[in-house]
Amino acid sequence: MDRKIIVTGGCGYVGSHIVVQLIENQFEVLILDNLSNSSEASLDRIKQITGKRPLFIKVDLSDRAAMAKIFEQHNDALAVIHLAALKAVGESIEIPLKYYYNNLNCLLNTLNSQIENGINKFVFSSSATVYGSPDELPITEKSNTKRPFSPYGNSKRIGEEIIEDLCKIKCDFSSISLRYFNPIGAHESGIIGELPKGVPNNLMPYITQTAAGIRDKLMVFGGDYPTHDGTAIRDYVHVMDLAQAHIDALNRLLNEEQDTPYETFNLGSTKGYSVLEMIQTFEAVSKVKLNYEITERRAGDITELYASTKLAEEKLGWKAERNIDEMIRSSWEWEQNLRSEKE
Ligand code: NAD
Ligand code: UD1
Repeated sequence: MDRKIIVTGGCGYVGSHIVVQLIENQFEVLILDNLSNSSEASLDRIKQITGKRPLFIKVDLSDRAAMAKIFEQHNDALAVIHLAALKAVGESIEIPLKYYYNNLNCLLNTLNSQIENGINKFVFSSSATVYGSPDELPITEKSNTKRPFSPYGNSKRIGEEIIEDLCKIKCDFSSISLRYFNPIGAHESGIIGELPKGVPNNLMPYITQTAAGIRDKLMVFGGDYPTHDGTAIRDYVHVMDLAQAHIDALNRLLNEEQDTPYETFNLGSTKGYSVLEMIQTFEAVSKVKLNYEITERRAGDITELYASTKLAEEKLGWKAERNIDEMIRSSWEWEQNLRSEKE
């Protein structure tokens, strides 16, 4: 019998890769998404890869009554993987209430509806942003968390606190928060990948769109950081590795293997790459020269971030497998496939 998992935000970038892996692991998937930053085409693409179209309900998770009804109808689900959120950092600074309203209501309604229906396992998409500017490198789960710079980031930190509080009082409820470092890359088929609406905020899609001729020039934000080449360092992790970690977290919850009802894990490659190293690696992998210019730092950016994932290795049996060349190559293949589809 299929084991049903509800995936909120499952039509999006990270979600669609998780859904593929869930289906490949014989789970039945119900996606809840309002398509505010994705499209129903994801469902066909998932079917193209797996042969199965996941169940899908178009719903705004901030609609409490609609959510109550859906969860009542799907109270046979074993767990929820919660990805639905708005994630544009810059916009969250301009319109903070939109982000707090959306991200916190999505979370609260999901938790409320699932608990009402006896679904007591929950995986949460969190972010390395909860560490703010880190006090130590590599960052471990014991490193201090700090108030993130942006309302987006803060909605993740508050989200984690809400879940932790719930785990404290409701003894049959258990949860794992996964703190993603910088997800990039795409499924090896080139059929699913990141599809930013409008001008990308993040480095990787900006690089591939510049190489594809959609953007004139990549702006490198800051050349005066105290790093070996003056540009900021991040821990990029392949989205397929990230997706695998969700399967591992889910199994840990379902098999009741947790040490405590609430756990958090870092998900990164443990290696730091500077912006210039990313550009050089892209040029080597794609054989395309990038037009770029070093400009001012971007407000809120941190000098250097990279993860220790020893805890995930020990408890989830998870470790990032794919290297930076594979990440960049798959991002580039996805971008090229997208362009050829549009032509
Ligand atoms: P995404 O925008 O591609 O996917 C999010 C999905 O949630 C979209 O399909 C969107 O339509 C949906 N959604 C948003 N608000 C909704 C609402 N009110 N009701 C129903 N659906 C709603 O983003 P992603 O990159 O796949 O990120 C997934 C999760 O991972 C998010 O929670 C994000 O904050 C978190 N995260 C992402 C990154 C990253 O770099 N991509 C890093 C750290 C954490
Ligand atoms: C950003 C968010 C973070 C969020 C993450 C995933 C900020 C301050 N942080 O992380 O909260 O969890 O995305 O969505 O926005 N860069 C350029 N030129 C560009 C784009 C980026 O030089 O056009 C640089 C940045 O300065 C940074 C690195 O590339 O040093 C990576 O940037 P990005 O992909 O936006 O990720 P983060 O800033 O790490």
